[in-house]
Amino acid sequence: MDAIRVRGGKPLKGTVRISGAKNAALPILCATLLSDGASRLRNVPDLRDITTTAALLRFLGRQVDVAAPIVTVAEGSDVRPEAPYELVKQMRASVLVLGPLVARFGRAKVSLPGGCAIGARPIDQHLKGLEAMGCKITLEQGYVVAEGPNGGGRLKAAEVYFDIPTVTGTENLMMAASLAKGRTTLINCAREPEVEELARILNKMGAEVDGAGTDVMHVTGVDRGKLSPFDHAIIPDRIEAGTYMVAGAMHEGGEVLLQGAELGDMEPLVAKLRAAGVDVESEGQNVRVARRKPLRPLQITTAPHPGFPTDMQAQILVLMCCAKGESVITETIFENRFMHVPELQRMGAKIALRGNTAVVEGVDRLYGASVMATDLRASASLVIAGLASSDETEVRRVYHIDRGYEHIEEKFRGLGADIERVKGAES
Ligand code: EPZ
Repeated sequence: MDAIRVRGGKPLKGTVRISGAKNAALPILCATLLSDGASRLRNVPDLRDITTTAALLRFLGRQVDVAAPIVTVAEGSDVRPEAPYELVKQMRASVLVLGPLVARFGRAKVSLPGGCAIGARPIDQHLKGLEAMGCKITLEQGYVVAEGPNGGGRLKAAEVYFDIPTVTGTENLMMAASLAKGRTTLINCAREPEVEELARILNKMGAEVDGAGTDVMHVTGVDRGKLSPFDHAIIPDRIEAGTYMVAGAMHEGGEVLLQGAELGDMEPLVAKLRAAGVDVESEGQNVRVARRKPLRPLQITTAPHPGFPTDMQAQILVLMCCAKGESVITETIFENRFMHVPELQRMGAKIALRGNTAVVEGVDRLYGASVMATDLRASASLVIAGLASSDETEVRRVYHIDRGYEHIEEKFRGLGADIERVKGAES
């Protein structure tokens, strides 16, 4: 297994190009199943999750050509609506084929994703919504089997109230509703920028989605076979951008220009960085981050968008390890998303965990160490911590990182970091 070795201690300077958004690309690739035509997606990041999604679409029967940043899904209607455990276990987001398959083909059999390092992550809201649209849902040997009304008929529009604003739950039902009969209403739905991006795609394909980005969305469906293919360049990745913003702010004197970042999608993070004393300015299509003074501590509570993103919690926690004073960070989305804390404590961070809250006492410096990555964003935070300490840090099990960060070593080297990948390092 690869590891990433970092020798930190100096401010990052330079320009980094922000890739397309992983969490927009995944649902959009699944949306190609709603049309038999050939679709093309541009600005797609070169990530393992994209490769896994392409493999899933191929397994379902569609021809897919991945030549990052372009992915093309060829014309095809001969689809076997089954997503096997072997593929779904590699990536939970595979559950996003459920809505499109049952809406398009009247039946779908998809492996239940199961839990992951950061939480149990059930899909009850996805299933509740499909049942409201007339689906018969059964669980068979670890698989969800969804069947349209009357043995595979067309879904019917419904009013769905989400007990919790779920991102992929909202996306699955948006896609299902785009082929349902009538106008579906999704209440208390997710408002993330990636949800809005999927709405843009569905509207391009011929469905009628309005209210995306708010907590009430309406989707008017069209007849099966009536959705057209698309050609679309996806939005930049706000979480990748946020990760480089935090890395740029780790040292006084740090100054990073993020090429192609969308400030509007990052307001919750930008507000907190500015509150900590970091300068963040928009420069046309780019965003400039500069750290010119000591960091102030923060109070942060993660929440659904437009609240503070849980996918930036680990990274900002590392930043607060170097602030002057006490910060309090509360994680409300996932029940087990502090796995990076014991690793940071090994690097000399002062963090006390109390239930879903981390109390962080700023320290003068972090120390290099060998640390273990546990999930995607935790691993990014450990690389940032390594960049903050002037010794050597080795982050192990970096396969997590390859799922969500494109060419991370090259990008950090472009900012002056001393970082390398160690192939086949022991786990
Ligand atoms: C999406 O996951 C993202 N993944 C996650 O990013 C992100 O952390 C998360 O949204 C929250 O922003 C993708 O978009 C592919 P949720 P998702 O359903 O949709 C509970 C990353 O690092 N819930 O919004 O799976 C759930 O357990 C990843 O890129 C139910 O109880 O998250 C959680 O506590 C990690 N029942 C909360 O809702 C349901 O049916 C929010 O989860 C669905 C969710």
